[in-house]
Amino acid sequence: MKSSSFKIAVVASGLAVALAIVAALAIKYGMSEAPVGTVLITGSNRGIGLEFATQYAAKGWKVIATHRGDTVPESLKSLADQYASVSVERMDVLRHEEIDALAAKLKDTPIDVLINNAGIMNTGDPAVAQTFGTLDYTLFDIYMHTNALGPLKVAESFLPHVAASNLKKIVNISSSSGKVSQPPHHSGNMWYRASKTALNGLMVTIVPTAREVNVSVTMFEPGWTWTGQNEKNRQPGQLDAAQVVAEMIETIEGLTLEDTGRFLMRDGDTQPW
Ligand SMILES: NC(=O)c1ccc[n+]([C@@H]2O[C@H](COP(=O)([O-])OP(=O)(O)OC[C@H]3O[C@@H](n4cnc5c(N)ncnc54)[C@H](OP(=O)(O)O)[C@@H]3O)[C@@H](O)[C@H]2O)c1
Repeated sequence: MKSSSFKIAVVASGLAVALAIVAALAIKYGMSEAPVGTVLITGSNRGIGLEFATQYAAKGWKVIATHRGDTVPESLKSLADQYASVSVERMDVLRHEEIDALAAKLKDTPIDVLINNAGIMNTGDPAVAQTFGTLDYTLFDIYMHTNALGPLKVAESFLPHVAASNLKKIVNISSSSGKVSQPPHHSGNMWYRASKTALNGLMVTIVPTAREVNVSVTMFEPGWTWTGQNEKNRQPGQLDAAQVVAEMIETIEGLTLEDTGRFLMRDGDTQPW
């Protein structure tokens, strides 16, 4: 009698250990439960985009992490190794044929949250090339095409995927630099500022069409964020990318169709235009 209950106890504890191992592996490889949603992020190989990809993956989301490299960036390779729910795709937002090709490849994949994050800020010396008095006019187009027209084309090509999802949200990482209601402190960063103003204006204009298919379109000012990639020295007052993105994800979770067309601070407060 004693020996059979001993055997049962041994088998039960063996099973418990096996279940714990399976559960740990399932969490590690993102198999613990069905993903809570699907997110596509542009420019996700570094900075704020990488932080979005990492945090959504950790929450169990299916993450479509896009980049513009000729090979898969190391950052995304290791994220995909860590989470089976992460897939990595190339999509340069300057190349509209690549945007269309990925949209066609993913035509049967509903996308709950589409994050237009890719952007450029510092091409050329912004203190010179983007400052009134010493402007380099040849850089204007690259800013407008990357920061305004790229996201617009991504939104246009992926609207059906977002409309087919449960959550139906297009999120644009804009900037307070796009604000025109108050003059800035200096006449610099002009191409960046103009591109973010254009992004906001274009995205507000797609609101009526997106609303017809119950998709919300919002713009975010993340705050001055230290991403640790391009900038070696952290400036006083720069925010942590992890904290900034965690706040934005929480705000995105709470967005409804009522919020469409809004320009938001990362915590959901209204950002002046
Ligand atoms: N950091 C801040 O303080 C701050 C403040 C306000 C707004 N924002 C906005 O937040 C977003 C992310 O900023 P961040 O600080 O994370 O910048 P970041 O570290 O410079 O990262 C920018 C990302 O965009 C990608 N990218 C650039 N051009 C692209 C293209 N043509 N196609 C696809 N991807 C492209 C970059 O890819 P590569 O690695 O290949 O270059 C990189 O992954 C930007 O839209 C930015 O304007 C940032």
